[in-house]
Amino acid sequence: MLEVFILVLIGYLLGSVSFSYLIAKKLKQVDIRQHGSGNAGATNTLRVLGVGPAITVLALDCAKGIVAILIAQWATQDPLIVSLSGLAAIVGHNWPVFYKFKGGKGVATTIGVLATLVFLPALFAGSIAILSIIFTRYVSLGSLLFILITPLLVWTFSTTFDYPSAYRYILLAIAALSIWRHRENIQRLLKGTESKIGQKAM
Ligand code: G3P
Repeated sequence: MLEVFILVLIGYLLGSVSFSYLIAKKLKQVDIRQHGSGNAGATNTLRVLGVGPAITVLALDCAKGIVAILIAQWATQDPLIVSLSGLAAIVGHNWPVFYKFKGGKGVATTIGVLATLVFLPALFAGSIAILSIIFTRYVSLGSLLFILITPLLVWTFSTTFDYPSAYRYILLAIAALSIWRHRENIQRLLKGTESKIGQKAM
C-alpha cells in the first residue's frame, strides 16, 4: 500500500511541474494561463511563444509521463501500480500542486504515458492524429483522436497485444479524463469556432 502511495505521489509531483508555465515565465515573463486559450500546454505555448518553445514544452511534458512510468516499472512489476503512476502524472499536469491546481489538458504527458505503456497502438494512433492535425490544423481534434484511438486499438486487439487488463482500464480512465478536459474544445469543434494552428485562440 505504501508502495502505491509513494509511486502515485511521485507521478503526481512529476506531472505537476508545468514546463509551459516555467518556459513562458522565463522567456516572456508572462503566465501562460492568462494568454491564448489559457491552457498550460504545448499548443498554447505555440500560440503565445512560437514553435521552438512549443516543441520544448511538448518534449518535456511528454518526458514527465515517460519518467513516471519508468520509475514505477523500476520499483514494481504490478501493472496496476505502473499505469496508476502514469495516470497520476497526467492528473498532476492538469491540476498541478505547484501552480494552484490550474494546469493543462494533459495531452503531451498522456503521449509519454501511452507511448511507454502501449507503444504500437500509441504509434498508430499518433500517426493518425498527426495527419489529422496537418489536414485540419485543429490540434485539439488530433489530441482527441490520439486519446480515443489508442484505447480503441488496445481493447479491439486485446488478444493480439495481450496487455495487462489494468492497462486497458487505466487507458479508459485516461481517455475519459481527457475528453472532460477538452469539453470546451469539443463544443467549439462542433460549432466550427475552434482555433486552428496559426490563428489566435477564440
Ligand atoms: O494540448 C491541448 C490541445 O489539445 C488543446 O489545447 O490550447 O487549443 O485548448 P488548446
